[in-house]
Amino acid sequence: MNPLLERLHPYPFERLAALLSGIAPPQDRPYIALSIGEPRHAPPAFIGEALLRRLDRLSVYPKAAGLPELRAACAGWLERRFKLGAGAVDPDTMVVPVNGTREGLFSFVQAVLDPADGGLVLMPNPFYQIYEGAALLAGAAPYYLDTTDQTGFLPDLDAVPEDVWRRCRILFICSPGNPTGAVMDEQYLQRVLELSNRYGFVVASDECYADIYLDEDAPPPGLLGACLRAGNTRFERCAVFHSLSKRSSAPGLRSGFVAGDAAIIAGFRLYRTYHGCAVPEMVQLASVPAWTDDAHAAANRLLYRQKFDAVVPVLAAAMPVQRPAAAFYLWLQTPCDDEEFARELYAREHVTLLPGRYLSRDHAGGNPGQGRVRVSLVAEIDECSEAARRIARFVSAIA
Ligand SMILES: Cc1ncc(COP(=O)(O)O)c(C=O)c1O
Repeated sequence: MNPLLERLHPYPFERLAALLSGIAPPQDRPYIALSIGEPRHAPPAFIGEALLRRLDRLSVYPKAAGLPELRAACAGWLERRFKLGAGAVDPDTMVVPVNGTREGLFSFVQAVLDPADGGLVLMPNPFYQIYEGAALLAGAAPYYLDTTDQTGFLPDLDAVPEDVWRRCRILFICSPGNPTGAVMDEQYLQRVLELSNRYGFVVASDECYADIYLDEDAPPPGLLGACLRAGNTRFERCAVFHSLSKRSSAPGLRSGFVAGDAAIIAGFRLYRTYHGCAVPEMVQLASVPAWTDDAHAAANRLLYRQKFDAVVPVLAAAMPVQRPAAAFYLWLQTPCDDEEFARELYAREHVTLLPGRYLSRDHAGGNPGQGRVRVSLVAEIDECSEAARRIARFVSAIA
């Protein structure tokens, strides 16, 4: 077997299952899972209807490049959502569909990295674990950029040593961020672009939460818009990752896309031809209306906003809580060790959430996830409110 497989870390949910095994939670209250970030709002009916209408495509091998109508819909959404201006994104050379961003993030690294080069892949810490797994399996070393309350939950780019920048081949950024919900502003993105310019690394910008934000008047900026404002109209060395999993609450569709630098996209497309991960055509065709219609995404956003409005005051009565700018997580500071918090909460209240340390690595003398838990507000509002009451009761009981 490939020895690099042994370098992979157990997935956070495996660690959670091990932590909770053998515990008998109280059966008088129904189980509530706030641990997994799987959207559970109903996806818009038109996606399923479009899928059914295109079942004839079961008899077609899809192509890695994707259908022109999907690429056009993705480019059109990017131009609307990030105010790029018509024609800023060439759908034929700058966009490629992927089976959700998870698959896209992983395969992108395999296509971009030179395995002989010994380079580094920089990523936030805590993070979405695929960044790390992709780097490890490509034979590269991950380098962790801690995000804490002192850094505004964004990597402190100015704290990265010069020799690390020199060895950096890919910088992963994630805005809005999982698990913190932090958003990179224009100035931050410009700094990222300056560094990429100076050191020549590729920026992989995971923007899969781009359509989940709490202030309707302040949609988070994205990397492509920052490129245009910096005069980088060809998006050189930049790629963004987008998904229908969060925007349209359709994680089972496995539909997303990568867009950016045409030279990178061309290599990525070639890689995908061999990897055999083209998106099925009925999925592509069902994705077209999902990227074209923005009303369902606004309605979806409203549901998350209502949940934050309901949950935050209940928790705030018992513990410190910060309403994030975007995404659907709370990154709560725990009054005790995060694993103990998660275990005891399950044992006493039948609620699961993720210990922060499962989403981050020990680095620079500490673990930025320690003493925090990730609460995922994906359940319906009543269930989220009930879970908040149970967490508040639990915190008061252990105080
Ligand atoms: C930060 C981040 N990136 C990517 C993904 C993958 O999403 P998908 O593959 O469904 O697009 C997730 C899923 O939770 C995520 O949190």
